[in-house]
Amino acid sequence: MFDIFSLVKTKDLLGLKELTADDINEILELSAEMKQLLLSGHKKSSRMAGKNVAHAFYEPSTRTAVSFDEAAKILGAVSCGMSVANSAAANKGENLMDTAKVLSAMKFDVIVIRHQSAGAPHFIAKHVKSSIVNAGDGRNEHPTQALLDMLTIKEKFGTLKGLKVAIVGDVKNSRVARSNIYGLSKMGAEIRIACPDTLLFSGSEDMEKNYSVKFFTNAEDAVRDADVVMALRLQLERMSGGLIPSIAEYHALYGVDERLMSFAKKGALVMHPGPVNRGIELATSVMDSERSLIDEQVTSGVAVRMAVLTLLTGCKEVRS
Ligand code: CP
Repeated sequence: MFDIFSLVKTKDLLGLKELTADDINEILELSAEMKQLLLSGHKKSSRMAGKNVAHAFYEPSTRTAVSFDEAAKILGAVSCGMSVANSAAANKGENLMDTAKVLSAMKFDVIVIRHQSAGAPHFIAKHVKSSIVNAGDGRNEHPTQALLDMLTIKEKFGTLKGLKVAIVGDVKNSRVARSNIYGLSKMGAEIRIACPDTLLFSGSEDMEKNYSVKFFTNAEDAVRDADVVMALRLQLERMSGGLIPSIAEYHALYGVDERLMSFAKKGALVMHPGPVNRGIELATSVMDSERSLIDEQVTSGVAVRMAVLTLLTGCKEVRS
């Protein structure tokens, strides 16, 4: 019987680096079940009745914030968003830890947090009773994004094992890339990363030693024979400048368009975590094509977040 508490030896979901392939498999299996509920005409369950979830987003979000809220509500939990702009932290000098303790003292079962500092969720998880879910911490990890990516790929191909997944773009700033390297590698996929040297993170050599990942500067080499090509958002807000010569040159070399896709396997599928800089990292002709899984990723996101909330609150066996 799966129990996320015993398997990951923690009450929290902080990253995929800490999870095993068995943990990931079990989350994906429950996510597939949740997706059926989401796609059914009756999007309602009492599985999490009596539980409550707080959402603290210190960085902007559409997909992650709304889907965690939707997930909690579909499952019958009380779902409360904290307005960071109006918070005591933003306006009265309260620190992150003290804000987290306030939410924990309000007896929230789960606190979902997105924060600009890598490690912020890990830090507060050690000090509060509530379960902490990392909804993106700086450049570190975005575990539920990688889980929803894996669910989407698995549903299309039936497996993750043996697939070639090319990830193209701003890897340096991407928590999505890191979580996908950990997750996909543990699930038996082969990851090829394409980015300019200036957008590569430090530690890539260790990554190649420890995970099934290879780094390329030439996007065509990375995409060759890929089953899936995932474009990453160019995170202009995290760049201090000068990392790429120009947007036009970046698009010519690393933009996922029909030309670049011609190096992938016939029928290869395209993904993007969103939000997309349309026409920069992804050409409109590809983004709006039949091979794009972007909408499917968003739907999978709700299902994965339903599964994660269910597991962390011990509601897996509750039927409705
Ligand atoms: N993919 C993702 O995290 O999107 P949001 O920033 O809209 O949550």
